[in-house]
Amino acid sequence: MLEKIKQTADYLRQRAGEMPKTAIILGTGLGSLVDHIENKTVIPYSEIPNFPQSTVQGHSGNLIFGTLSGKRVIAMQGRFHYYEGYDMKTVTFPVRVFKALGVETLFVSNAAGGMNKEFKVGDVMVITDHINLFPENPLRGKNYEELGPRFPAMTEPYDHKYIALADAIAAEKGIRLMHGVYVGTTGPTFETPAEYEYFRVIGGDAVGMSTVPEVIVARHADMRVFGISVITDLGGKDITEVPSHEEVQKAAIKAQPTVEVLVKTMVERI
Ligand code: HPA
Repeated sequence: MLEKIKQTADYLRQRAGEMPKTAIILGTGLGSLVDHIENKTVIPYSEIPNFPQSTVQGHSGNLIFGTLSGKRVIAMQGRFHYYEGYDMKTVTFPVRVFKALGVETLFVSNAAGGMNKEFKVGDVMVITDHINLFPENPLRGKNYEELGPRFPAMTEPYDHKYIALADAIAAEKGIRLMHGVYVGTTGPTFETPAEYEYFRVIGGDAVGMSTVPEVIVARHADMRVFGISVITDLGGKDITEVPSHEEVQKAAIKAQPTVEVLVKTMVERI
């Protein structure tokens, strides 16, 4: 694994010049942030040694280097999900590579189903914490001390200073910004009404099929993390609307301008 990470990082260093300190993983329907990135170098995943290919409709597969709000960034346009059949090491491989390139801050975004009764479709939620319900932890197996400790703390998975900064920006710009706990599950099924209720009972506000593995690996590598979910559907025993991939994408696209403003301003100020 160490050799693979090095090989991929060396390749990207050769292709993309000065390396950023910030990486952004763009979730479902939130890919348009790349339109705001200037002086882009776009590298398709297919050209990157050791990178898997993205298989989901609505997720293109490119790594984009460029400038956002005057800062160098790497953006992942399309991520790798556990439900696609990738193992956890593959899902989180890009985060390992980011660390090797010198990235210190990871931004993650995703689409999620809301269980919190205060939430509305189209709301943007800052992730304050998560619950890992994937059947496997990405750190299972041999630990490489070069990458991080055997038993990493998860006391502050999402950086408190970034959450405060997001709140300040939201107040300034008049953005309705919710806070919540993200429950990470494998999918690809959406939840049954009883499952949404259960996730609410155990402390979840929103549920989705990504993010948790990448955040665990980022924290293992001592990167600071900021996460946002776009609430694309609601779930629970009183909810009769049926979620679909199309509805999720539509709702995510609608929230895009808000997420763009938030992320652009965050990047500018960190
Ligand atoms: N459940 C799981 N993942 C999701 C959902 C949901 O309701 N909405 C968007 N991603």
